[in-house]
Amino acid sequence: MRKLDGGQLVLASHNKGKLREIAELLRPFGINVSSAADHGLEEPEETEDTFAGNARIKAHYAAKATGLPALSDDSGISVEALNGAPGVYTADWAETPNGRDFAMAMEKTWALLEQKNAPVPRNAAFNCTLCVAWPDGHDELFVGKVDGQVVWPMRGDHGFGYDPIFVPNGHDVTFAEMDPAKKHAMSHRADAFAKLVAGCFD
Ligand code: IMP
Repeated sequence: MRKLDGGQLVLASHNKGKLREIAELLRPFGINVSSAADHGLEEPEETEDTFAGNARIKAHYAAKATGLPALSDDSGISVEALNGAPGVYTADWAETPNGRDFAMAMEKTWALLEQKNAPVPRNAAFNCTLCVAWPDGHDELFVGKVDGQVVWPMRGDHGFGYDPIFVPNGHDVTFAEMDPAKKHAMSHRADAFAKLVAGCFD
């Protein structure tokens, strides 16, 4: 597996929640981190129907445009009783003409579960695929997951996205109620990140 030894990495994301969490996870490695916005990059269209496919699109786009290794994150929540939805379309469920509205997306998720009279616990998993791509076209993928359940009402002010309705297994608070350091230690992103560290850092 190729190592990240150049000391520089572009985070191929415009999502502030993800950027904050990934920068935090990278902090111990002394890497010079910049973001897609720092390089004036556009957001490429995510045209694939898998987390890996979309992670590849984002990382390769940023690596080619900057000439630096790039790290992307494609992630989402998959709800068992909704046949895995919203899955790769997690961010799309929040789209409105005025930007993303995650409260609306969470309401929609819960309403569909109610409509189906889905059994409780309403099992779900957060998935995260990280892709490191180099300017020469090489890439490495790392997959992480955390199992839990969707709950209602929304609870907590930390985190981002669907955190207020996700309780990880073995806990009774949502990701949004948890101290961020605790979420970082157990999330789908932390799981994928531990694999990236084992593979790409010495
Ligand atoms: P994408 O990877 O840019 O397609 O977007 C993934 C979407 O999944 C984000 O916009 C969030 O809504 C959601 N998501 C991913 N990771 C998390 C997380 O750690 N907490 C809450 N929501 C998340």
